[in-house]
Amino acid sequence: MARKKIALVGAGMIGGTLAHLAAKKEMGDIVLFDIAEGIPQGKALDLSQCGPIEGFDARIMGTNSYTDIAGADVVIVTAGVPRKPGMSRDDLLGINLKVMKAVGEGIRDNCPDAFVICITNPLDAMVWALREFSGLPHNKVVGMAGVLDSARFATFLAWEFGVSVKDVNAFVLGGHGDTMVPVTSYTTISGIPVDDLVAMGKSSKANLDEIVKRTRGGGGEIVALLKTGSAYYAPATSAIAMAEAYLGDQKRILPCAAYVKGQYGLDGLYVGVPAVIGKDGIEEVIEIKLSDEEKANLKVSTDAVEELLEVCKGLDGDLA
Ligand code: APR
Repeated sequence: MARKKIALVGAGMIGGTLAHLAAKKEMGDIVLFDIAEGIPQGKALDLSQCGPIEGFDARIMGTNSYTDIAGADVVIVTAGVPRKPGMSRDDLLGINLKVMKAVGEGIRDNCPDAFVICITNPLDAMVWALREFSGLPHNKVVGMAGVLDSARFATFLAWEFGVSVKDVNAFVLGGHGDTMVPVTSYTTISGIPVDDLVAMGKSSKANLDEIVKRTRGGGGEIVALLKTGSAYYAPATSAIAMAEAYLGDQKRILPCAAYVKGQYGLDGLYVGVPAVIGKDGIEEVIEIKLSDEEKANLKVSTDAVEELLEVCKGLDGDLA
């Protein structure tokens, strides 16, 4: 069987980490694309030379030409600019929207059958714009946010309860921004709802609220520490899990920025929801029951996403 082809559009911090993870896991041959000349070629060479040490068989090439992503099975998009301290994800909108146009057209012309995972921020607006510009079916274009946000939530919960991260199943809904909705009612430790653990005295409501707040600001906390860019290890790991779910037809239920048409009373936008990922891409959006408070929080989050889509439409006539 021919090897799979993984195209990584954007060869910066996340792109390079994605290439390393995909090669180590022998997910397929890898093409690193970037507009910066030399960067993808240099990273591809450096990463190829890990092969003999780590013992992976993967061809890794760097390129500045979209024709090299032709026939890719999976495309992971990180092209654009990351945040600097003090910036919100939304501040990136104007610059990254133009990047999504170029990338969307590059995908449309070269690998229209690919499963496309967008990481570029502001995520929920950029994945929507990327889908519009590429013209691919909605089920084949998805945004990576929920896996990362849930992983952040799970990390903080594992620390709080003093348990293994492996036993924490954390749940985050909504947009990938400060209005995201960590849902404690669906968050469990080995099947035990965290709210029950709080009732048992294992933590307090105040501590749980603090963890929810820290999760919402989880990306910003890292930007403030790094000063020159944003998180890249966990974002890359999250997107790889989604790519593996698609390539292996795993039917994993992962929180993703998926296109909703009717679910949660929403229509025509991308927002963080639990979705089944298998060989057809996003095979189903799962609609869970929410409390009135969770519904209200989700509304605040999706209103913020909708506002950004209006801004995008104002910036590019093709989107209106
Ligand atoms: N086409 C292809 N690549 C581009 C384009 C473009 N039009 N514009 C910029 N790039 C490349 C840059 O040259 C750079 O190598 O995108 C890469 C981005 O890499 P970094 O600056 O290192 O950013 P990174 O940390 O990887 O984050 C990328 O993901 O999480 C989001 O907010 C983050 O939007 C940002 C994106």
